[in-house]
Amino acid sequence: MMRAGLIGCGRIGCEFDDDAARIGIYTHAAAYRAAEGVSLHALADADPAKLAKAAERYGIPAERCYASADAMLAAGGLDLISIAAPDRFHADLALKAMATPGVRGVLLEKPLALSLDEGRAVVAAAQARGIALAVNYSRRFCPAHARVRAALDSGELGRVQTVTGFYGKGVRHNGSHWLDLLRHFFGPLASVQAWPSRAAAFEGDPSPDLRIVLASGLVAHLQASNHLDYSLFEMDIVAEHGRVQLLESGHRVIWQRVADSPYYAGYRLPQLAEVDESGMRDLLLHAVQDLRDAVLAVRVPRCSGEDGLAALQAAEAACRSLQSGQAEALP
Ligand SMILES: NC(=O)c1ccc[n+]([C@@H]2O[C@H](COP(=O)([O-])OP(=O)(O)OC[C@H]3O[C@@H](n4cnc5c(N)ncnc54)[C@H](O)[C@@H]3O)[C@@H](O)[C@H]2O)c1
Repeated sequence: MMRAGLIGCGRIGCEFDDDAARIGIYTHAAAYRAAEGVSLHALADADPAKLAKAAERYGIPAERCYASADAMLAAGGLDLISIAAPDRFHADLALKAMATPGVRGVLLEKPLALSLDEGRAVVAAAQARGIALAVNYSRRFCPAHARVRAALDSGELGRVQTVTGFYGKGVRHNGSHWLDLLRHFFGPLASVQAWPSRAAAFEGDPSPDLRIVLASGLVAHLQASNHLDYSLFEMDIVAEHGRVQLLESGHRVIWQRVADSPYYAGYRLPQLAEVDESGMRDLLLHAVQDLRDAVLAVRVPRCSGEDGLAALQAAEAACRSLQSGQAEALP
């Protein structure tokens, strides 16, 4: 049994479990309790009220609840560490967790870090110490999205013509989810160009419109929407034999197949074939299971530190492009 310690008992750490509308596993704490072969052993949070609430909910005794990550890590006895504290602590906490004797796997909330230098240091430390570092770009753990990737890889959808989509709430904060998914589906990104949009920034993180050129030559367009009105996260893949629309943040996937038009002789058009409602549930359970399996098999997790770094590089390039007015090349 691998013992896990959770740093950060806020919303994605624990509190999404308070939301009765969420069916499935949406928190790190619930995922460690549900996955076989792992247990939720210790909690750390800087806020005593959050810590106490989580301790009671998950039945963690007081002697294994800590007011700081440092104290939890110093106590030892942990194989896995989840980091669900705010963005600005990610790199520092990941470095500390990976330097802790006995720790073999770290599940780090996105973004990997706030700066590229910090991000590179985290990835280098994981490589140097042979630690399985996973970054929670959660769509990589979604079976409905894995099906899209399989259809792209197998050629079922044919040649991809174009990819478009919407996001909101900051290019680093939420746009990086879209950029990671784009890279996951279609391979490395070559350049990003950004334009000012009318969508609100999020805590100083701008929400520009983007044009992304991939190494394959594919071109994608990402439009910003205003998160102050509502959440919008969509991807629309237009391909030779069909079209796939990831809607409602990925909870609904619409599959269209190209067939003869029912309206006009001699025309073909994409037509509704299937609505996949299997959605985004249990993604954290899949992430924890994957981390456990990555540790046991000594392999890279399904969303690795390198993937997290690539998403960070793309989001940072978008912010530079917004300043420079030029397309920014990606490494
Ligand atoms: N993967 C996703 O789709 C997804 C979704 C939501 C949030 N997140 C990420 O998860 C992280 C947490 O977001 P949230 O919405 O749960 O935030 P939150 O504010 O609800 O929770 C953060 C918790 O961390 C605690 N904390 C703050 N500093 C700490 C420290 N130094 N050590 C230990 N605990 C500390 C806070 O007291 C709080 O309980 C963010 O980085 C966010 O980007 C990711």
